[in-house]
Amino acid sequence: MRKTFNITTFGCQMNEHDSEIMAGMLIEEGYEQVDNRKDADIAIINTCSIRDNADKRFFGTLGQLKRRKKENPEFTVCVCGCMMQQQHVIDTIKAKYPWVDVIFGTHNIHKLPELLADVIARKGKQIDVWPEGGEIVEGLPCERLYKSKALVNIMFGCNNFCTYCIVPYTRGRERSRRPEEIVAEVKNLVADGVREIMLLGQNVNSYKGEKKDSDEICDFAELIYMLNEIEGLERIRFMTSHPKDLSDRLIQAFVDCDKLCKNIHLPVQAGSSRILKAMNRHYDREKYLKLVERLKAAVPGITMSTDIIVGFPGETEEDFEETLDLIRQVEYDSAFTFLYSIRKGTPAEKMENQIPEEVKHQRFDRLVELVNSISAKKNAAYVGRIEKVLVEGASKTNSRTYTGRTDGFKLVNFKGTPDMVGKIVDVKITEGKTFSLEGEVL
Ligand code: SAH
Ligand code: SF4
Ligand code: F3S
Repeated sequence: MRKTFNITTFGCQMNEHDSEIMAGMLIEEGYEQVDNRKDADIAIINTCSIRDNADKRFFGTLGQLKRRKKENPEFTVCVCGCMMQQQHVIDTIKAKYPWVDVIFGTHNIHKLPELLADVIARKGKQIDVWPEGGEIVEGLPCERLYKSKALVNIMFGCNNFCTYCIVPYTRGRERSRRPEEIVAEVKNLVADGVREIMLLGQNVNSYKGEKKDSDEICDFAELIYMLNEIEGLERIRFMTSHPKDLSDRLIQAFVDCDKLCKNIHLPVQAGSSRILKAMNRHYDREKYLKLVERLKAAVPGITMSTDIIVGFPGETEEDFEETLDLIRQVEYDSAFTFLYSIRKGTPAEKMENQIPEEVKHQRFDRLVELVNSISAKKNAAYVGRIEKVLVEGASKTNSRTYTGRTDGFKLVNFKGTPDMVGKIVDVKITEGKTFSLEGEVL
């Protein structure tokens, strides 16, 4: 009997992609992936540590698995991801959840098959967490979530140390893949039916790929130009681009490269220069707004999204008003809004003037209301337009409703058929809602 596994993924697209790679490796080893954790012989939990609620959800999940482990000691539990890169988390697991079989981190996901084989061979519990990333491991298999679109790592880690953020501690220092490796991977993906790629990095703008057989460095804009040449590839996206070093060359790439989607996620975090400085973001309100102006001028119709944190230590009502004002000026198509969450070991943990929960929540509600009203207004303006939509699949709730994304990353629902999946179809927009568009296939 083949052993079955299920991966639960928390966190960002990096984690999602790590899970795709882990699934690819295990399938290659002969394990079988199942959709439901209840049916799996092996449960793998890929954790995120970005905010406190992510930590809590992980421990909640472990709590659920405890009884099953008691009933069936053969049931195997593996935990990995960003939380495991923190010693206090490992200590908690050892003390409170000693039945966990495998613990590994973000730098050695390629070791999973080996660690798992050792547990199955009854060699005992396996703990293997690396403090830093070694050489980039190329050529790992990958079991994609979508047939027609793929996540592609271009770099790992982060050097920016924004004062609120845990990622530099959980993902280590920046390391870029060689451009040739990325191009080769994308060509293989296209041969396998991929039409759209999402290039991943915590700050893609600081991508520095060493070219093979030369001393030259390939920057992010150059990488885009290289990928734009790949025949059969239709769309290129990327995430995330840090405003502090978005280059003119990248703006020009939007103009020159037909495959680069006219959409950008440009996290602002806050609208007050004072707070941005305390966050160590290396740009101020004026610089950010100028950048947005330049992007809008060079790339007419570009859609924009952002991340915003409310309640960073010391944020006053005036600071918060500046955030609201910046949102009104930029008019984002959408925004991810977060309550500031204290992360152990970050500089902001030690800052005085932590904002009371009720003030944070009040500001958060005002923020969401503004963001949503702008999204609704922007989406309403799409009615009557014809958009090219890459069809992702049927909706979970209604098998006749299909969903896909426009070039500008708008989610569209429409009546479709299974043969449309993976194709780019023309959709006439009939309604604009707050978070999505409705349309009819032409
Ligand atoms: N590298 C990306 C962001 C990755 S984390 C960038 O710099 O844009 C995704 C988002 O989580 C961040 O943009 C930030 O808005 C939010 N975030 C990170 N740490 C947080 C914290 N301690 N509390 C609340 N939100 C946080
Ligand atoms: Fe975190 Fe800042 Fe790095 Fe983004 S750039 S991952 S917010 S430290
Ligand atoms: Fe979370 Fe790690 Fe991503 S902390 S947001 S999974 S890099």
